[in-house]
Amino acid sequence: MIKKGIILAGGKGTRMSPLTKAVNKQLLPLYDKPLIFYPLSILMLAGIRDILIIINKGQLNQFRKILPENNNLGINIQYKEQMNPNGLPEAFIIGEKFIGKNNVALILGDNFFYGQSLTKVLKKNTSFKKGAKTFLHPVKNAQQYGVATLNKNKKILKLDEKPKKPKSNLAVTGLYFFDNNVVNFSKNLKPSSRGELEIIDLLKIYLKNKKLTAEFIGRGGAWLDAGNVKDYYDASNFVSTIENRQGLKIACLEEISLQNKWINNRNIKNAISFYGNCEYSKYLKSLIN
Ligand code: TTP
Repeated sequence: MIKKGIILAGGKGTRMSPLTKAVNKQLLPLYDKPLIFYPLSILMLAGIRDILIIINKGQLNQFRKILPENNNLGINIQYKEQMNPNGLPEAFIIGEKFIGKNNVALILGDNFFYGQSLTKVLKKNTSFKKGAKTFLHPVKNAQQYGVATLNKNKKILKLDEKPKKPKSNLAVTGLYFFDNNVVNFSKNLKPSSRGELEIIDLLKIYLKNKKLTAEFIGRGGAWLDAGNVKDYYDASNFVSTIENRQGLKIACLEEISLQNKWINNRNIKNAISFYGNCEYSKYLKSLIN
């Protein structure tokens, strides 16, 4: 079982400037919640309770203010600073102590996942011993992503970073499960031509060792990355549309904890006083009535 999860919530946020000049992208609202709630909810849905959030230097107070207290969510959140956005695999170097001898999940702080069988897919994949798992999703503009080419048996043959002529429409999403070797592999990576450690290089090591498996968030699911302003508002509208139609919230952290039996009604009441008089609190009230 994967017990440890990392959220990479630093970054420059260049593409969303000036919105991100003073505020970290992950603290901006995606419809009715801060963006960070969504990737955190995915780890919690996967049953992961031990979480490291990697943030930019100097932003700890803001994250502490926006996220509820650990014990009110029934999880353990730690923070570590990344001095510079040197690339995604740095998460495993910064998180070495946190990871210990365990396997680990990584999710990018600006990635949004949603869909009917998502929890099933997540839970099914948490119990592995060796290797790595990458979650793929079809996209129209594969040129902008890491792209996986598969054989007939859905085994990955090849990974290409932002290929000019993609051989498939399957993009590598911002969710990965790794065995413990990831720490050493990350330490030995060399920066790419853009000067960053690259997650695709990490995945290629597992691929070469025949230890990389593809998992699928099928077309009934959604994967959106809130990297630029348009995608950000598209994701926000998506949440608004679903929530207002169903009357159910996406990424309500307390609801997930309650369902996982990590917290009880008393914690929900504490959460209501933490958030104050708002729609989110009204929703929490409805969970215990
Ligand atoms: P990116 O989309 O690569 O970068 P960014 O968010 O800094 O934005 P921009 O490209 O517009 O400058 O990052 C994906 C996510 O991972 C994002 O949530 C920030 C985070 N991240 C880190 O925390 N540390 C890093 O070193 C990198 C590269 C990204």
